[in-house]
Amino acid sequence: MNKDQLAQVAIAMTANGKGLLAADESSSTIKKRFDAIGVESTPDTRRDYREFMFRTEEAMRDYISGVILYDETIRQTAKDGTPLVKLIEAAGSIPGIKVDAGAKPLPNFPGETITEGLDGLAGRLKEYYDLGARFAKWRAVIDIASGIPTYGAIRANAAALARYAALCQEANIVPIVEPEVLMDGDHSIERCYEVTEWVLKTVYEELFLARVFLEGTVLKPNMVVPGKKAAKQASPEQVAEETLRLFRNTVPLAVPGIAFLSGGQSDVEASANLDAINRLGPTPWAITFSYGRALQAAPQKAWSGKPENEPAGQKAFTHRARMNYLAALGQWSDTQEKAAA
Ligand code: 13P
Repeated sequence: MNKDQLAQVAIAMTANGKGLLAADESSSTIKKRFDAIGVESTPDTRRDYREFMFRTEEAMRDYISGVILYDETIRQTAKDGTPLVKLIEAAGSIPGIKVDAGAKPLPNFPGETITEGLDGLAGRLKEYYDLGARFAKWRAVIDIASGIPTYGAIRANAAALARYAALCQEANIVPIVEPEVLMDGDHSIERCYEVTEWVLKTVYEELFLARVFLEGTVLKPNMVVPGKKAAKQASPEQVAEETLRLFRNTVPLAVPGIAFLSGGQSDVEASANLDAINRLGPTPWAITFSYGRALQAAPQKAWSGKPENEPAGQKAFTHRARMNYLAALGQWSDTQEKAAA
């Protein structure tokens, strides 16, 4: 394990306002996104979409520190034969890879899941490193509903995350540790706080037991927010206060950076909340974004599968990437949001 390299990559992924583009949708998830814009999902359309995104110069150079790829994409080449990984590197951004095999039903725990993908992971990580990946992602999913989550499911998912993280570091790959507490449902912001606190405490206990080098990790958490269907919603200032109070109680100082998932927040909401969190700072961790939907919904819509719309897609991507970059510095404003839109 090269600790210096791991620590440097973890800092580069999260520092100075830059954040991650989570473009690691599985083929079934990207099909859902393409269905929504009337585009057929084939290896070529998926390539075309990701190619114009990775060729978006300003966004990739100035605002995006790294890109999370899916297995298919890390092996694909652009239309001119250049590997997509090389496009990302040429822009000064770091390629990463999703290595989990998805959340599957956890036996004996109705309504709860366990993320699979540990078998054979050491070998796959070695191959991904050779393909250019310098960080990886594993997402555990925790749902809040009546009677769940349970101790058993949280413990099992945290242990899998820790095993994954240890395997990554052995391969000199920075693990993004992602325990996502879903915002589905009608639970209160207090309930989200309570569950996320329980989850993060357990995750850091398991990382300790697995002897993971925290300086060479990145945390990818949810924000503390009420459920989407909750009667009482929260202001960005309230989200910021609760989220930072949570981190102060759970995230060790050795962790260099925290990069949020957007989890179904609208793109402007995701920027406004990230900005409010950074305005409350300074914090001991860099706090930035690792957004999938909140960075890509707008460019996907602008593109809609038509080659002539690629510049419009790139413009929409640059705008969202810049808004989140400003938010990661605590410098976003509604005025800039509207001025550039
Ligand atoms: P969203 O930002 O769309 O939640 O996706 C981020 C991600 O990588 C989830 O695993």
